[in-house]
Amino acid sequence: MKIFVYPHEILKTKAKPVSSIDGALQSFIDEMIELMYRAKGVGLAANQVGEAIRLFVMDVSGSDAPPNPVVVINPVITATEGTEVAEEGCLSVPHFSAKLSRAAKVEVKGFDRNGKEISIEGDGLTARCLQHEIDHLDGICFVDRLSPLKRAMFRKKWPKILQRLEQEQENE
Ligand code: NI
Repeated sequence: MKIFVYPHEILKTKAKPVSSIDGALQSFIDEMIELMYRAKGVGLAANQVGEAIRLFVMDVSGSDAPPNPVVVINPVITATEGTEVAEEGCLSVPHFSAKLSRAAKVEVKGFDRNGKEISIEGDGLTARCLQHEIDHLDGICFVDRLSPLKRAMFRKKWPKILQRLEQEQENE
């Protein structure tokens, strides 16, 4: 399993709902969680690893706390409140971050990995991460949400970052 990098087509693909939870999906989820920790991310959506299905994993508990991986299948944002601007990054857009306005609080409903209905309410990093991952499932990357000025900056920087990434991969 690997993380696809912007602007790969899979990141622009709207993911399809998960229709059944079987052993193969459980292994896939375990692999995603492992990869998220290895990449030091706080969230990872299935299309970032090449599967356009509505599922993401996240852990916003921080490096000092015990791991607390959360799996959300077929997530839907059911309520939002306020707005908040904060720095945001993405495992599919390495070596780049930018300030972005998001809803300050959200409520998300979906299913856990056992198919049980869950509801997550959060603010701060939790709210940001939930919105970021659900965006991925809709084929939206956070850089697509930047203001025209910041997006122009990103477009200028990105080819150089991609070049650096390719060099890093060659040296591995
Ligand atoms: Ni991301």
